[in-house]
Amino acid sequence: MENKKRFYITTPIYYPSDKLHIGHTYCTVATDAMARYKRLQGYDVLFLTGTDEHGQKIEDKAKEAGVSPKEFVDRIVEGPQGVKDLWKLMNISNDRFIRTTDDYHVAAIQKIFKKMYENGDIYKGKYVGKYCKPCESFWTESQLVDGKCPDCGREVQDAEEEAYFFRLSKYADRVQHLLEDTDFLEPRSRVNEMVNNFIKPGLEDLCVSRTSFTWGVPVDFDPGHVVYVWVDALFNYTTALGFLNDKYDDYKKFWPADVHFVGKEIVRFHSIIWPAMLMSMDMPLPKKVFGHGWLLLDGGKMSKSKGNVVDPYLLAQRFGVDALRFFLLRTFPFGSDGNFSNEALINTINVDLANDLGNLLSRTVSMVGKYFGGTLPEAQTEDAGKDAELVELISNLRARYEEQMERYAFQNALSEIFKVIDRANKYIDENTPWVLAKDMEANGPRLARVMYNLLEALRVCAVLLTPFIPQSAAEVLRQIGACEACQTWESAGVYGSLRKDVTVQRGENLFPRIDMDKELAALEEIAAQAKKAALPALEVEPQLEEKVDFDTFCKSDFRAVKVKACENVKKSEKLLKFTLDDGTDTDRQILSGIAKWYKPEELVGKTLMAIVNLPPRKMMGQESNGMLISAVHTEHGEEKLNLLILDDKIPAGAKMC
Ligand code: ME8
Ligand code: MG
Repeated sequence: MENKKRFYITTPIYYPSDKLHIGHTYCTVATDAMARYKRLQGYDVLFLTGTDEHGQKIEDKAKEAGVSPKEFVDRIVEGPQGVKDLWKLMNISNDRFIRTTDDYHVAAIQKIFKKMYENGDIYKGKYVGKYCKPCESFWTESQLVDGKCPDCGREVQDAEEEAYFFRLSKYADRVQHLLEDTDFLEPRSRVNEMVNNFIKPGLEDLCVSRTSFTWGVPVDFDPGHVVYVWVDALFNYTTALGFLNDKYDDYKKFWPADVHFVGKEIVRFHSIIWPAMLMSMDMPLPKKVFGHGWLLLDGGKMSKSKGNVVDPYLLAQRFGVDALRFFLLRTFPFGSDGNFSNEALINTINVDLANDLGNLLSRTVSMVGKYFGGTLPEAQTEDAGKDAELVELISNLRARYEEQMERYAFQNALSEIFKVIDRANKYIDENTPWVLAKDMEANGPRLARVMYNLLEALRVCAVLLTPFIPQSAAEVLRQIGACEACQTWESAGVYGSLRKDVTVQRGENLFPRIDMDKELAALEEIAAQAKKAALPALEVEPQLEEKVDFDTFCKSDFRAVKVKACENVKKSEKLLKFTLDDGTDTDRQILSGIAKWYKPEELVGKTLMAIVNLPPRKMMGQESNGMLISAVHTEHGEEKLNLLILDDKIPAGAKMC
């Protein structure tokens, strides 16, 4: 279809410096829901995501890991549990995936940089200022907050070098107008933030090249310079369409983008720097930038360095991909921050999915089976008084949903759907099918219509839920016997699309209820284990610097000893009491604090090593003459101890030297 309307939507391209977490997943799931919604509406959609792979941070991390930067990013992008894997798991329907290390992108960036240089918007100068390495951001003194990076609050470093600059200042007025007088940036609250914090204090020209590291797109006309990573990254939205390259041919068709979804901390790049550079390139501007909020944990930002990231793999595995997708968009308003918690996640699953949607489906399908053998009769009796409200809600759900979706208000769109689901559950109670079923002769046609209305409610809701929970929505539609024609966007706007003599298919319970306390405890245990696993696998004590002179060392009398008897010391959890043959006529008694690691009976008969000329010590009222020698180390934060056990050939009393 040549004349299909087009829709181009993007996510930020992710830094493959670490595994992605639930915060990254949030934005991509939202973008996916929007892309699927537009496809459902009949648009020709291009949904782009990808990875932003250059910059000093990646270069440093690769060095730390002892691999080349490309090997480092390859592992995180393409490797197991990497970026591409995660999007596959989350059922993300991106049409394209760009890596900024792709050759076609690199070559196009060089051309773009050169073009802005040639038109006079990029010039050579000297950069003096501050640099935040984790954010890859330059700041002037006046932009710092308490001397720290205004974005992340971390330390910044002095930076001075020859560099190219982009004439951002030249575009200040046009950008301000774009932000204040159009709907370019949403939500609206972000506009004030940008104008007051960045534009009004005076936009300074932007440093757009670096010479202190090499992992970037080289400036081809000035060796030693690499293009600033944000210039490289932002233009991905156009190179991925084929702008200034032959890899793709979609630039004419899809540019300008309909919307860029981006996290709030990168709104500045997308709403000030990005339009200014496009103006310089004389390219059309994207229609909209939407700055979404953060998923917080305990009120703060998730970050690997804080060690509080939430693993989407784990959650998807325990609760299912759809439940996780649903939770993210149902629980938090897209434009604001939201606090993630396991409790909120389980609660949303239990209330909305298990209780409301799951029950409506299983009750309806099983009643159609029980009362009608699975197929409704065509003879059905309407009861306008009882049906009108539900039918009306079903009929105009699509319009209410669409209004919210067009504003990226996913939470509200879902609320509209769940109003209908709630109403349908109430409709069951009002119409008491089990009472009607007592006299099928008299009430059969009425009961059939009650069932039909419930199936219609489920159908329209399931079609509109498809962008959010694609697999589960398809299963709902299968169970209620929806034909292909009654799964379309058009049919979702019309009550009565389902054929009257529809046949249902019983299926599995879609969303089993989760035992909140048990699940929370299980998740806590997993988190504790993960914390432990994150500790160094093996740690041994550092060697002593201080030297001991040889004669002193030789005064220590180490001997082989054989364990004649061994028992726990009463009232002590730590101590074992050993009776030892040390090669003399009298037994030697040693107490040793190793009960945590050994049972007395497993040591009897063993040949051990002891130092025998220590002064006697009293422990728990008993005398200890010497010390058994053991090896100690730490594993995942836990102390481990192994007695030095000698070959049984060695006789008791043999001297160690
Ligand atoms: O910023 N909650 O990449 P990135 C919500 N490469 N969103 C979150 C989040 C959280 N806890 N944590 C991260 C970059 N994000 C650049 C983009 S685009 C040309 C270049 C979001 O991997 C964050 O807000 O650091 C951002 O939108 C996205 O994840 C990618 O972050
Ligand atoms: Mg970031």
